[in-house]
Amino acid sequence: SSVLVLNGPNLNLLGTRQPEVYGSVTLADIEGLCRSHAAQIGLTVETMQSNHEGALIDAIHAARGTHAGLVINAGAYTHTSIAIMDAVASVELPTVEVHLSNIHAREPFRHRSYLASVAIGQIAGFGATSYTLALDALAAHLGVGA
Ligand code: DQA
Repeated sequence: SSVLVLNGPNLNLLGTRQPEVYGSVTLADIEGLCRSHAAQIGLTVETMQSNHEGALIDAIHAARGTHAGLVINAGAYTHTSIAIMDAVASVELPTVEVHLSNIHAREPFRHRSYLASVAIGQIAGFGATSYTLALDALAAHLGVGA
């Protein structure tokens, strides 16, 4: 089964962006980790990053029929975007929400996630490992892999 791993705004800057919050791992590192972890558990992944809300929505729409599920770090759009929430609800693909940081331990405006209401679950706070945990959760939900 194929999974789309989507990263939203500012995540292209990982590695140099607020390393005290997000660590030194780069987006390329995370995408590589997702690819190798997916292979170990019997999934394949496609990765995509955009700073644009509409491009993320287009990618979610395009995943219907081509992917079995979604792993999404929507960045700050997590907390603001009804449109991304609606896109996920519309395609009816099992979706795991991920965050590098523990959004619940940060500023109050990061505690609300629109995405959480349409995701099968949320993983936050484990840095790059949040993504491999999300892939494990999605594989278990889909009943595929090792
Ligand atoms: C983030 C948390 C968001 O609040 C923030 O806007 C991000 C990154 C995370 O992965 O911890 O851009 O999604």
